[in-house]
Formats: sequence, C-alpha cells, structure tokens
Amino acid sequence: MSEAKIKNVTDLTGVGPSIADKLSDAGYDTLEAIGTQSPGELSSATGIGKDTCTKFIIEARKAADIGAFLTGTQLMEKRATVGKLTTSSSTFDELLGGGVETQSITEFYGPYGSGKTQFILQLAVNAQLPVEEGGLGGEVAIIDTENTFRPERIISMAKALDLDPDEVLSRIHVGRAYNSHQQMLMVEKVSEMAKERPIKMLGVDSLTGAFRAEYIGRGNLADRQGKISAHMKELARFGDLYNAAVVVTNQVLSNPAAFFGDPTKPIGGHIVGHTSKFRIYLRRGKAGRRVCRLVDSPHLPENEALISITEDGIRDG
Ligand code: GTP
Ligand code: MG
Repeated sequence: MSEAKIKNVTDLTGVGPSIADKLSDAGYDTLEAIGTQSPGELSSATGIGKDTCTKFIIEARKAADIGAFLTGTQLMEKRATVGKLTTSSSTFDELLGGGVETQSITEFYGPYGSGKTQFILQLAVNAQLPVEEGGLGGEVAIIDTENTFRPERIISMAKALDLDPDEVLSRIHVGRAYNSHQQMLMVEKVSEMAKERPIKMLGVDSLTGAFRAEYIGRGNLADRQGKISAHMKELARFGDLYNAAVVVTNQVLSNPAAFFGDPTKPIGGHIVGHTSKFRIYLRRGKAGRRVCRLVDSPHLPENEALISITEDGIRDG
C-alpha cells in the first residue's frame, strides 16, 4: 500500500485481522502509538516478531509524520494553542508565566507534607473552570499510586470556587495503580478515555514512588531510570496529543541523615528533570506557608512564590 493511503493501523503492510488484534489488545491502535515505539518494546508488548515490528514502525512513522521537521511558523501556531491553568495563587501563576501549561509536564517535588498532593487536587478542580477563569474547561484523570486522592478535599475546594461539588467529582477520573507496571499501562487507559472525553489534565501522584519501592539497589538503577524515562515519554506524548496539562509529583528525602544520595535531589534525577519542562521545588516556610521555587525552566527566571494551604485550598501566601 502506498504511504499516502495509510490512515489506520490496518492499512500498514502486513497487518491482517489477527495482527491488528494483537496490536490493539496491547493498546497500539493508532499510527502514532506504533510509530513512537522501539521495535523491542513493540515486539515484547504484542508478541509480534521484532523484524515485523520494525517494518510497522517505519511505515507508521512516515504515515503519521513522526520525526518530521516543523517550520518556525508551525511551531508558533502550536505554541499559540498552549493553555494556562491557574494554581489559585496569583503570585505563583505569575511565576509560571500565567499558570501550569498544557502540552508540558510540570513536576512538583519536595519532602513529605510539602503540599504536592494538595496541588494535584487543586489543579484537578481548577482544570474544570472555563478558560476565561483560568481553567481548561475540561475533565481530569489522576493516576493515584499512593492512595492519597481525597474526594472530601475536592468538595471543599470546589465549594470555595462556587462550583457544584458533585459535578466536579464526576469529572475527575481516578485510577489506582498498585505497582509501576500498572502505572505505566494506565497512561494508555487515559489515552483511550481521552478519545471520548475532554481530558485536559492528567495528574500522576506519585510519579516515582512505585519505581523507588520496586527497583532497589544500585544494580537496578539503570533499569529503573529506563522505565521512568519511557513512562515520562508517554506522559509527554499524551500532553502533546490532547493539549493537556500533565502534572506529576516526586518525593525527595527530607532526612538529612539519609544514607544514600543527596537528600534534596528528586528521585529519578536528571531523567525526570529533562522531560519535565517546569519543575517546582516545594518546601515548608514560616507560619505554615509553602515556598514554591521554579527550578531550571527553559524560558522563565528561577524565582520563588509564597503560598498558603487553607481550608479552601491553595491561595496566595
Ligand atoms: P507526601 O505525599 O507524603 O510526600 O506529601 P505531599 O507533599 O503530597 O503533602 P500534601 O500535599 O499531602 O500536604 C499535606 C499538608 O497539606 C498538610 O500537612 C496540611 O498542612 C495541608 N492540608 C491538607 N489538607 C488540608 C486541609 O483540609 N486544610 C488545610 N488548612 N490544610 C490542609
Ligand atoms: Mg502526596
């Protein structure tokens, strides 16, 4: 089949009904999904031979225009569609250049109790606000790996914004992941959902907790980093494809007597750092406040904002 006519997975050379089923069962039902995989990953996920997978990937890439160059004008147009999601703190929004951006991964990292989960919950409510009010006018998916999603907290935050709490809760889709494997698969589930529902924010709380628990010791470090990196790529792709804000949390060890590593360094180190476009370091400040520091953003100065976590949610400090 000529490239111009390839519109679906079933149009790829050599894809018959049984291969199409294998691909679809493993979640590969678009050309983009196939074209952005490596042959090894695609082969192990589907049970299809690696050489055949390589052919599919090359053809899917060409057909879906993956890896093609975009002009500066096209990039400007894409950039113009970026949405900004309010954090409910005007000073923090300003620090972020207007709010949490869509088409990017924003990472909140910090020690236990620093407010990472509170930000996820607040953004999950705010994403439902209309665009004119700092929202994204959409629904939300949260991958919860630590069982920290609290509906009661959503209700308080929604009421404080004069939103109907039941409606707000009905637009937040929470998937509980019990291990890193489930966590990674859940991104596919969210992509499925996003085809039918306007998912404009995807939260992962926590991004790294399950990986840290499962890959223990130096010998497993490379493996762990590879998995986190693959997961981050899927998350970035989701944000790009659906013009959604992707917000992840990452705990740092607050115990200065920690035996291994620098206690202020986030888990996953530079792998997470390079893929997250916005990284915010949270720490406790005076009188219950939290200091939010924007760390190495590509186009914004490194700076800090002070916020409070109140009954109503996140507010200016
Ligand atoms: P870990 O997940 O353990 O790493 O912590 P975290 O960074 O996710 O912390 P989290 O967002 O859970 O912050 C917990 C803090 O938020 C609490 O210590 C409180 O200070 C504050 N907080 C949580 N819920 C409420 C609430 O209903 N009212 C008020 N005023 N503060 C709250
Ligand atoms: Mg938390």
